[in-house]
Amino acid sequence: MDILETLKDNGQSELAAHLQNLTGDARKNLERDISTQDWKELKALHAEKSAASLIDNVSSDLRPMPFKIASDDLRYDYWKETGEILLGKGQVAAFLVAGGQGSRLGFDGPKGMFDIGLPSHKSLFQLQAERLQNLSAQVGHAIPWCIMTSPLNHEATVNFFTENNFFGMDRTNIRFFEQGTLCALSPDGKAVLDGDRLALVPDGNGGCFRALSQSGTLAWLIERGVKYVFLYSVDNALCRICDPAFIGALASEGRSMSASKVVHKANANEKVGIFAFQNKKPGVVEYSDLPEEYRDMTNPDGSLTFDGGNIAIHLFKIEGLRKLQTSKLPWHTARKTVCGIENCWKFEQFLFDSFPQLGTMMPFGVVREEEFSPVKNAEGCDSPETARIMIGKLHKEWLKKANVEVNPNKLYEISPTISYAGENLNRRTFERELGKGILEFDEK
Ligand code: UTP
Repeated sequence: MDILETLKDNGQSELAAHLQNLTGDARKNLERDISTQDWKELKALHAEKSAASLIDNVSSDLRPMPFKIASDDLRYDYWKETGEILLGKGQVAAFLVAGGQGSRLGFDGPKGMFDIGLPSHKSLFQLQAERLQNLSAQVGHAIPWCIMTSPLNHEATVNFFTENNFFGMDRTNIRFFEQGTLCALSPDGKAVLDGDRLALVPDGNGGCFRALSQSGTLAWLIERGVKYVFLYSVDNALCRICDPAFIGALASEGRSMSASKVVHKANANEKVGIFAFQNKKPGVVEYSDLPEEYRDMTNPDGSLTFDGGNIAIHLFKIEGLRKLQTSKLPWHTARKTVCGIENCWKFEQFLFDSFPQLGTMMPFGVVREEEFSPVKNAEGCDSPETARIMIGKLHKEWLKKANVEVNPNKLYEISPTISYAGENLNRRTFERELGKGILEFDEK
């Protein structure tokens, strides 16, 4: 069907008129933007969401998902060894979802380029690249790294990696690809324009399954013999990428299609989604969707009933990802000011909505201080400062465990090139690396 007719048929006559007034490159660019969108679906989404309450309905059949801290389990060392073997066989890949806009942080560029102010001034991307390389060296096999960007930050991301020579990694093991976008709509459902272009918004981290498949990356992974994909967010400064114990645990457990890392909630009001069963299916309930009575519910020992915070670290079996290429995830909405128009509609899919579709999943409890320090806000909680301090304290603990005498008034940054997760540290390494791969800093 003709592009103008499609627009008119789907309530976008103003956009069609605007397009007709353009010439040359401006017209071509807008035509290209328009061709990326499914206008029928957008119309239906606007109609459906305008009629519904903004709060997604949570079923009354909501049950907690119990979990245990994995490192307390007697099988932990076995899981770790199993994971290392699988990594060594090339059966594991890392999948970074980095297509978000990072609006809360307010940094003008891909969040992964952000320097959280560690003494080394390494970016989040560099910290991850070094951790991956260290683990690759330990297991004797390069770990493929899939990086999902969005059309809004793709070029800047790839340029940053190129300028930094891919942080010493083999370029052929890294695959960048873009997620999809949806046009923001005005309150009455009209496409929002950003100058002469469409105001396109990334389709949410749940777009990762479609993007992985449509970009050919899933096929690339399958061809390489990858069987497990470790999926994580760009902004967790403590993420233990491709954690062998996590991989080994899912591989040993057998029946689950996926596993997710889980932490105890800091308190009832912490703004994290929680893992729970809804209508007997496992999934995540967003903080804002969890009814208050559930949020505050406690067990006889005083602990929270609905505990199990989602820290956005997941592991998928490749069969699960195959299944998710074609399955439809629900759309969530947000009302935001876009290009000066208040209360616009933005549509997003969330990757955790894939869990109910996959059936059984395995929660894997971890200690927050060791694995979760998100950089979301410019200041205050979950900020560069909190991440810096958490890294500093954790690395100091690693040194203390290795019987190194540390300065009690200082924090430490250990380069991931020296230690992936606290191993390989001793007094000699400390003395040799202090001021180089190990840096001291003050909390304030
Ligand atoms: P967040 O939900 O924190 O969103 O993303 P964000 O866009 O980074 O930040 P705000 O909300 O605008 O401040 C969690 C993870 O999901 C990725 C992000 O890059 C981050 O790694 N993400 C989010 C995508 O890959 N695509 C999206 O469309 C949204």
